[in-house]
Amino acid sequence: MSLKKIIPAVRTNNITYAVRDIVVLANEVAKSGKEMLYLNIGDPNIYDFKPPEHLVKSTYDAMMKNFNGYAPSSGIKEAVSAIEREADRKGITNVHDVFVTTGASEAIDVCLTALVNDGENVLTPTPGYPLYTAIASKLQMMENPYYLDEENGSSEPRSAGTGWLPDIDDIKSKINKKTKAIILINPNNPTGSLYTTENLQAIIDLALEHNLVIFADEIYDKLLFDGKKHVSIASMNKDVSCITFGGLSKNYMVPGFRIGWGIVSGRKEILSDYMEAINKILRARLSANHPEQYGIKISLEGDQSHLTEANKKLTSRRNMTVEMLNSIPGISCVKPEGAFYAFPQLHGINSDAHFVSELIKETGVVVVPGSGFGQKPGTQHFRVVFLPNEQILEKAYKAIGDFYVKYLEKYPEKVEA
Ligand SMILES: Cc1ncc(COP(=O)(O)O)c(C=O)c1O
Repeated sequence: MSLKKIIPAVRTNNITYAVRDIVVLANEVAKSGKEMLYLNIGDPNIYDFKPPEHLVKSTYDAMMKNFNGYAPSSGIKEAVSAIEREADRKGITNVHDVFVTTGASEAIDVCLTALVNDGENVLTPTPGYPLYTAIASKLQMMENPYYLDEENGSSEPRSAGTGWLPDIDDIKSKINKKTKAIILINPNNPTGSLYTTENLQAIIDLALEHNLVIFADEIYDKLLFDGKKHVSIASMNKDVSCITFGGLSKNYMVPGFRIGWGIVSGRKEILSDYMEAINKILRARLSANHPEQYGIKISLEGDQSHLTEANKKLTSRRNMTVEMLNSIPGISCVKPEGAFYAFPQLHGINSDAHFVSELIKETGVVVVPGSGFGQKPGTQHFRVVFLPNEQILEKAYKAIGDFYVKYLEKYPEKVEA
């Protein structure tokens, strides 16, 4: 019998997902008995957040009523109508299609798959959520990263202001004949930044000029601080082709339910073939999770008090994050305005991946290296999740500060010349 290896498809070669990849190392370290402080998981349920009870109950009731078969491919009527009303509340008026998916992840995958041929490209925010680059690899799409600028947006000193807004000139310079779409994540993972309306308008102008589809990932649109209001890009122009992604995972704290959606808006005559292509894929994969769809209407239209509580907790944890990290010499942190992530810069070293792996081994503090999200060449960052409570965060940030000093001494070859 010949022992020939099964060779995986070349399209998987570049797929990485730093958020989960780092867990392998963290699990190894945890086995040694070290106390671990997890600042790496974007799942509120691991920490002291819970979904609204009515959401869980409606899903349980649906299961007990035996709504356990396949759902319609675009989702159950009640949920689709509730998402249409949500689109209306977000100011998105020219809606032509709404579909429920297995997490926003599936909506993103389906919409990219239905749009992009190999060799074509999509403008992807960098830093940004690694699922987009993983799907790009799968589709053999060309990478076309546009950079978010850490300094852009900070009218005040960096520690107090915002940053990480897209560099519109960089976007302009990267649009070519094979560019099909532009992705924006608002609020952003991993930076927590919120786009300004000027920024959104500039992106709309470019999309209209070059006939691009805008993929607006708004999965964190209700997790906002300092009284900030979220503006959906699709609400700003009726003609621009836009798919807005949302879901229950973050705002309603049930990432395990795997419920997301897409909202298609713009000019019907321009979008019709593309919408049919999306629907062909949706039909072929049968349906999204069925009983969980009964949680959509009640979530979007029921009591929202869990959000007030969550945003209060997150504001205090965000403040602590920014203050403590900015007080560490060699680290600077732009203040996040939404979601639950910060993306501090590491100055004076040349490998965030090495820094983070040593940090985990030495201190048990688990964060994700910036290289996993993409970043401007020559810069080093790491992502923290500030969902953990203040005691854990305080301990973790103290440990990072102490470790940073030791790291510079221990690894002179990793210190930037
Ligand atoms: C920006 C962004 N989009 C999409 C997702 C995935 O969402 P879902 O759980 O609905 O698939 C995440 C999850 O972390 C995310 O950060």
